[in-house]
Amino acid sequence: MIEYNKELAQEVIAKAKDAVERELEKIYPEGEGNTANLYEAIRYSLLSGGKRIRATLVLETCRMLGGQIEAALPFACAVEMVHAYSLIHDDLPCMDDDDMRRGKPTNHKVYGEATAILAGDGLLTDAFSVSAMNPYVSGDCAATAVAILSGAAGSFGMVKGQAADLYGESHELTEGELVELHMGKTGAMICASVQLGCLAAGYLPNDEVTEKLTIFARNIGLVFQIVDDVLDVTSTSEMLGKKVGSDKNKNKTTFTSFFSPESAMDYAQGLTGEAIDVISSIDNSEKMIALALYLCDRKN
Ligand code: IPE
Ligand code: IPE
Ligand code: MG
Ligand code: MG
Ligand code: MG
Repeated sequence: MIEYNKELAQEVIAKAKDAVERELEKIYPEGEGNTANLYEAIRYSLLSGGKRIRATLVLETCRMLGGQIEAALPFACAVEMVHAYSLIHDDLPCMDDDDMRRGKPTNHKVYGEATAILAGDGLLTDAFSVSAMNPYVSGDCAATAVAILSGAAGSFGMVKGQAADLYGESHELTEGELVELHMGKTGAMICASVQLGCLAAGYLPNDEVTEKLTIFARNIGLVFQIVDDVLDVTSTSEMLGKKVGSDKNKNKTTFTSFFSPESAMDYAQGLTGEAIDVISSIDNSEKMIALALYLCDRKN
């Protein structure tokens, strides 16, 4: 592992977490009346824990490029909303059938499957209006943000990856297919987070700096899921807040189907090193570099 400033990475995450959680609270106040349980279910998954890595990537990318944090905050909320939806649906009995998440029972265990599905539907759909109505960016920029978000979340991004993940429970995948799966189910939203941070700072997807940061994000997105696969084998439920051994139980194809945990981590470190090389020439990238190294070194 390359030496890095872990405290700096943790500080960046803690600040972003604080900022985004304050905004998310405003988007979803407690509900009332006969639909109160929908908002309770949404708040249960959205506001109770989570590392807020995707929000951090949005905010830190924007800061690094000299943008205003206010402009990035709605996008940071939107990616956390899509992420929370994806976890609620991912845990459903018809998907990974998991009953623990962020140290608590999964959404459907508390609210039932129907409400869990609706909570996910609400979070996903609301994420688009939160992005579209960002008051700190132009209409064109907001439209581009919606396109980035839907491209990453939809059937050409995360949903496609989730479909491949299910296919991998009963079919052998090649290593290349597994990489594509991971880039979809997890990488796509990580990539979108960085691209939305660029956008908030005024950089469009085809600007040179966005292209560099997209290469960076593709690598760290893949690393994020490799580490998730490894932790499912090497960590504990207490540490992760979710059940370990879940992938094996479901006969998933993961990085540990091809590599030992140690070799998988060597691979992840190689990808992280490449990611850092791509952005090291960008001014003010020290915090982002520390973040990339932290994400490879994370223990939960
Ligand atoms: C879990 O994501 C699902 C994956 C894509 C691996 P995180 O590890 O970011 O989950 P939280 O938000 O911190 O709970
Ligand atoms: C989840 O991957 C990816 C998405 C939620 C889109 P996993 O199924 O590996 O995530 P965990 O391990 O349940 O958090
Ligand atoms: Mg899954
Ligand atoms: Mg899962
Ligand atoms: Mg996993």
